[in-house]
Amino acid sequence: MADTDALLETLMLPFERGELAWPVEGGAAFLHARAGAALSRHALPGLVCEQDFRPEAEALERAGLPLAAGHDGQRHPLVLVLPPRQREQARALYARALDRVAPGGRVLACAANNEGARSAEDDLRRLAGPLSTLSKNKARVFWTRPLRLAEAADRVDHTLLDAWRELDAPRPVAGGRFRSRPGVFAWDRIDPASALLAAHLPATLAGRAADLGAGFGYLAVELLERCPRITALDLYEADARALELARDNLAPFAGRAALGFHWHDVTAGLPERYEVIISNPPFHAQGRAERPDIGRAFIAAAAAALQPGGSLWLVANRHLPYEAALGSGFAQVETVAQQGGFKVVHARRSAR
Ligand SMILES: C[S@@+](CC[C@H](N)C(=O)[O-])C[C@H]1O[C@@H](n2cnc3c(N)ncnc32)[C@H](O)[C@@H]1O
Repeated sequence: MADTDALLETLMLPFERGELAWPVEGGAAFLHARAGAALSRHALPGLVCEQDFRPEAEALERAGLPLAAGHDGQRHPLVLVLPPRQREQARALYARALDRVAPGGRVLACAANNEGARSAEDDLRRLAGPLSTLSKNKARVFWTRPLRLAEAADRVDHTLLDAWRELDAPRPVAGGRFRSRPGVFAWDRIDPASALLAAHLPATLAGRAADLGAGFGYLAVELLERCPRITALDLYEADARALELARDNLAPFAGRAALGFHWHDVTAGLPERYEVIISNPPFHAQGRAERPDIGRAFIAAAAAALQPGGSLWLVANRHLPYEAALGSGFAQVETVAQQGGFKVVHARRSAR
């Protein structure tokens, strides 16, 4: 059973065992939702899913589960949460979950043991009072009592609720040069691999460019600052929260080059052609396991989207096995630098 299926099976356990009933009216919001076989086995009337990560959002769509663009102001008798690993982001999501519960409704969350289930459970208890818990598939599902947030007898910690709502708010990082927020890649610093790539970008790069997996926009900004002959830049990013930050961080460059922001799964390929592509590709999906296949799919997408003679500038951890993917997609491949456990690679498409 895939990890996600196991997690979702545990999420549904209280309903399968009859400890909770799915709401007859009012439906349920599912925050940080994921698709999987365990969900497809149940009729889940009124379920509305929210997901910022494009590949997961597309999986929900493929499974026929309704996706909400954002909070529509509706409250539900049930709010399901898969808390993310980043703790401030998870706490802020709990606060949002409580804000979404209808009077007398419950918040129910589920996390894998090796992804912080115990602290996720402790956090929800601190915020919302006593919980019920079940464990299965190396994961825990835990849920609140019926919540009546307006009543004095309620066990919700309202001071904490106010504080946690703000925990993942955007803020200045890197000495005020960028805005970022908890939960996006390397959210509170400049990633050293990206900094190494930026330092090796030649000032002569020219034409239309793309940044694959652009995060909050650090590399994109560096490209525009270092390479005056770049005329257009498309940022591709799967995490909608990061892409919004990139929009803010690139706003001062709107007059300098034509900018495009794409909430996009790069492994599915690119819709446009470019002279230059830069990337610090991801090598993890939502879990902990290394996924060099994602980095290889980024390399293949870059090779297919580059014009003849176009260049990919890439940084990666030295141990990642990208050589075969680079060799099959490009005419020339050169390791330009190796430092601090990273390699910077310049790969050129054949000019024909
Ligand atoms: C290693 S980070 C690089 C971020 C940024 N370029 C920087 O240098 O700080 C990789 C980025 O790829 C994004 N990502 C992961 N999977 C993706 C996918 N399938 N398609 C597009 N972006 C993806 C992640 O959200 C993350 O922001």
